[in-house]
Amino acid sequence: MRLPKGWLLGLTVVVLADLLIGYLTVESLNSFTGAHSHLPISSFFVDSAGLAPAVAGSLLAAVLVAFAGAFVLWLWRYSPEAISKHLGIGRSEDKIALDLSATPENELAKFTPEAIAKFLGVTRTPKTPVAERAANPQRGAMKVGELQLAENTETKPFVEVVQLEEYPLKIYAAVTKEEGREGYTYAVIEPSLSAAEKVRLADLKKLLVDELDVDLRSIQTPDKAERYLSTKMRELAKKYGYKIQPPAMTKLLYYLNRDFIHLGKIEPLMRDKLIEDISCDGAGIPIYIWYRDYESIPTNIVFETDDELDTYVSKLAYSAGKHVSLAEPIVDASLPDGSRLHLTFGKEVTQKGSTFTIRKFRTDPLTIVDLIRYNTLSSDVAAYLWYLIEKKLALLIAGGTASGKTTTLNALSMFIEPGEKIVSVEDTPELNLPHENWIQSVTRGVGTPGEITMFDLLKASLRQRPDVIIVGEVRGEEAFTLLQSIATGHGGLGTIHADSVEATINRLTTEPMNIPRSLVGTTLDCIVMQLKLRLSDRSVRRVVAVTEVVGHDRRTDEIILNDAFNWDPVGDRFAFTGRSKLFDKITQKYGTRPEEIRRDIDGRRVFLDWMAAKNIRGHTEVSNQVREFYAGPYAVINKARVELEGLKA
Ligand SMILES: Nc1ncnc2c1ncn2[C@@H]1O[C@H](COP(=O)(O)OP(=O)(O)OP(=O)(O)O)[C@@H](O)[C@H]1O
Ligand SMILES: [Mg+2]
Repeated sequence: MRLPKGWLLGLTVVVLADLLIGYLTVESLNSFTGAHSHLPISSFFVDSAGLAPAVAGSLLAAVLVAFAGAFVLWLWRYSPEAISKHLGIGRSEDKIALDLSATPENELAKFTPEAIAKFLGVTRTPKTPVAERAANPQRGAMKVGELQLAENTETKPFVEVVQLEEYPLKIYAAVTKEEGREGYTYAVIEPSLSAAEKVRLADLKKLLVDELDVDLRSIQTPDKAERYLSTKMRELAKKYGYKIQPPAMTKLLYYLNRDFIHLGKIEPLMRDKLIEDISCDGAGIPIYIWYRDYESIPTNIVFETDDELDTYVSKLAYSAGKHVSLAEPIVDASLPDGSRLHLTFGKEVTQKGSTFTIRKFRTDPLTIVDLIRYNTLSSDVAAYLWYLIEKKLALLIAGGTASGKTTTLNALSMFIEPGEKIVSVEDTPELNLPHENWIQSVTRGVGTPGEITMFDLLKASLRQRPDVIIVGEVRGEEAFTLLQSIATGHGGLGTIHADSVEATINRLTTEPMNIPRSLVGTTLDCIVMQLKLRLSDRSVRRVVAVTEVVGHDRRTDEIILNDAFNWDPVGDRFAFTGRSKLFDKITQKYGTRPEEIRRDIDGRRVFLDWMAAKNIRGHTEVSNQVREFYAGPYAVINKARVELEGLKA
């Protein structure tokens, strides 16, 4: 028998229920007729007055039990998991259906040079130079040799092959360089499907669209959604009689998960930590990525038709909780993982059709230690900026698109003393701070009825008595309010889009911000100018100047500036100019003597150098160290100094 336990239990229940109902029936009939009021169970079958009613009662009970049994069988058939879960017995097939640990194929073994070259559609070019760049050790990139491509073979289209994580199947990304073609290409290598598997996948997709009874995105976590989809898919396969072997099942599930729960074709790109931006300029054009080591390069992912892209873009908007249409063809939003999304729909505003750009969110954001190690700024510059933030001066980080303004803002904000009240105001939530006492406010529906703008949020924030106000990106009328609130003693931080210090002042003092020059000169304290530039053929991000805003000359209406640090592109170094007017301001505000200020800044520099030397770089680690620092700065600095000297010796 298939399920002896289940049947045995069912049979026992039926017999017991039958006996019980029969007994109760006899008992009640007898008491009604006055024959015997309390029959012992052994005697009621021989009791002449009770025998007939006992038979009748038993028959009635049998009918009832048969109905109940039929109901249970019905339930059993239509929801096997629910029943087996409740009874804790389960059917053997259901156990297979719920077993998610199907052994994945070792896809890697199939990656012969020929197979990969064929997959990528690249021609094998004899005797081309081997991989030109070292694999990136940070993310366990495989050298081409590990795929047995480099040794004794003439196939060298790959520069680097990386295994992307978190899949039940092995998914790879390869950077390729083809002979006779400019630049690199990024190729996603996913499991290949046979023609029959492709048909099966399409069928299953159709069935799932019809039969899914919950919105997968409403399931709390992607893991749970994947489990649900797996069960559902196996149920459908059974219901429609599809025989799918476990290896194919794993592959089909990969594609179903990718398309129903995650972001579809571009999902592998979302999993590669070295990709900063993903952009699609239209149908038929490869998706481009901004890749840490190779900058802007095309991928092997393409949305073939306008229809496919339009549908995809609508789905992206939906994933971000927004709606896009020809009437409202531009959407700015955040994806569930925190990535920033900008998209346009159809040919209304973009000639080549729908487009999208994703600025990927880093779950492990860059910290000040990363920025020091990348030489985006020096520990001197970081210590100086830390001190200004600690003393609640107002800083703006200025720079071009993707110059790393928000990243630097986030890294510097970690210096805000733990416990201080922070209110941040952003269009899309990008900040990621360790502070508990932090209200993160985000605008809503800007440009639509019922909108809540940065200006509204900033006004509201002033009523929340913040110690520090952070404005994600200053661009409109909120700038005036920000500077006014700084003038009334709040600390203020923000970013602004501008390519130079002069351009920053210009933006602040002209439409639409229109802040009087006198207010800028007297309230803003410092502009941190950060650029993305090319240095010996590499793209780097550098804080090229730290400019103090010293005051306002009433006669000439000029804002007086002073460069505290400059960056020297020749030596790729940062140099203190030897002048800081803000030290005077701090002395006036807090009574701290200039030599104390220098000593305190130097202490912070030592502490930062120590963290960099010890490779304390994670978001949590750095924030814990900063907290310890605030709890007892001198002890921490002394310890850091001693250890640093020990490391140098
Ligand atoms: N100093 C840095 N070194 C290396 N990568 C960086 C650095 N700063 C930022 N990045 C990376 O660059 C990308 C853009 O960073 P970020 O969002 O901070 O730029 P942004 O100037 O705020 O851009 P936008 O103008 O679009 O707001 C991110 O992927 C980030 O991880
Ligand atoms: Mg930004």
